[in-house]
Amino acid sequence: MSLENTYRGYNQAKKPGYDQLITHTDYGTPAGEYLRRYWHPVALSSEVTNTPLEIRILGEDLVIFKTTENKIGLIHKYCTHRRASLVFGKSESKGIRCCYHGWLFSPDGEILETPGEDPESKQAKLVREKFKLGAYPIKEFNGIIFAFMGPPEKIPEFPHYDAYETPYDKRSPYKINYNCNWIQVLDAIMDPVHTAFLHGQSSGIQFSKGFAEVGEIEFYERGTQYLGANIRRIDDNVWVRINELILPNFTQAGSAFAADGTKTKYFGRSSFTRWVVPVDDHHCVAIAWANFGERGDPIEHDNKEGYERIEGGETIDRTFEEKQKSPGDAEAVEGMGSISAHKGEHLMPTDHGIMAYRRHIKKSIKSLQEGIDPQQPKKNGDLIKTYGQDTVLRVPKRNIDDRKFIKSIGSTVMKLQFDTEKMPNKDRDNFIINELSNMEKSGAF
Ligand code: FES
Ligand SMILES: [Fe+2]
Repeated sequence: MSLENTYRGYNQAKKPGYDQLITHTDYGTPAGEYLRRYWHPVALSSEVTNTPLEIRILGEDLVIFKTTENKIGLIHKYCTHRRASLVFGKSESKGIRCCYHGWLFSPDGEILETPGEDPESKQAKLVREKFKLGAYPIKEFNGIIFAFMGPPEKIPEFPHYDAYETPYDKRSPYKINYNCNWIQVLDAIMDPVHTAFLHGQSSGIQFSKGFAEVGEIEFYERGTQYLGANIRRIDDNVWVRINELILPNFTQAGSAFAADGTKTKYFGRSSFTRWVVPVDDHHCVAIAWANFGERGDPIEHDNKEGYERIEGGETIDRTFEEKQKSPGDAEAVEGMGSISAHKGEHLMPTDHGIMAYRRHIKKSIKSLQEGIDPQQPKKNGDLIKTYGQDTVLRVPKRNIDDRKFIKSIGSTVMKLQFDTEKMPNKDRDNFIINELSNMEKSGAF
């Protein structure tokens, strides 16, 4: 046996490069410009008070605050005068006042007062009239603050997803930070196979026993929507679970704890409605609602530990030993380094979803550079229809190839969702549930 064909350490010691086009998101970078054409969640309502809060989004240092009249401002961190940090500013009724020389800024960036200057000073008047502090439009929705950080003339309609109308008993906003680039965290949603290994085998059972099964994988690409279906046989049941990504960064899946393939479920919806937002090139944040009730996860998980486990299979504040013993998503994606060396990957057929969505983002970035605006999430009928879900049907094995058989069941479940997407949301929801139950009862599969 020749040594050079076995020990390849030296030959492969050079660190592979990474995909710069999709990883860099600061102002002025191609992906940064692309992402700045969408609304993104930036903070939880519960974090925004009269005490200014410093946040970083898309590499920009920002301050978010609430005036004493309850108006929210999302502004550049540094004061227009001599760049003191506005995190040390004071909220007032009309805006935020810089600690250094008392300039007052409105939530939309207007310079309202320059109190240290002579009231008659022409120069101060000119500054107040001509200059502004950088500020971004925000929308507060169900406990999450969204912002649009792109060119104001390009502001899109605030997207309304069907998930906002799903009859969950409770939606709880949560926010989880990651010490790595956004692409690494986003990849996991288009990677249905990792659930079997990371969440079902490597660390024991993080969600439920059924996850350990690899299942049959199918990918669907529909415009800016990417769906990864995982179809598993659990004894006499077939479990169709859909992970979903709507570009650039909206994600859903099925439930974390409520579906394990053993109990019948018709169109159970996602345990989270979530976005992965770049903080800077080396950090990102998942901002989401955890969804509880009959259509989401059991309400007993409505607490910090529950959100963390829904998000990544494990809790966050653990010792290194605990993490090593039982890694979750955070360990898997942060362990790659803060920017993964993509050029050293060996992408497999099961990584199809990852390859496809990354390619799509790159194409949209290039088109934007040529002046073509990226596509916004598409409304179907009344709302943007989504597909993250679990369906578990009782369909025992037949005397045929079971892999093909369960795949065909997966296709039928998906077709039912696609065929009904123009329906008003509520009708669609009921229709799909009824159809699935009828199909199961009548033995249509
Ligand atoms: S630096 Fe803010 S008022 Fe002077
Ligand atoms: Fe995961």
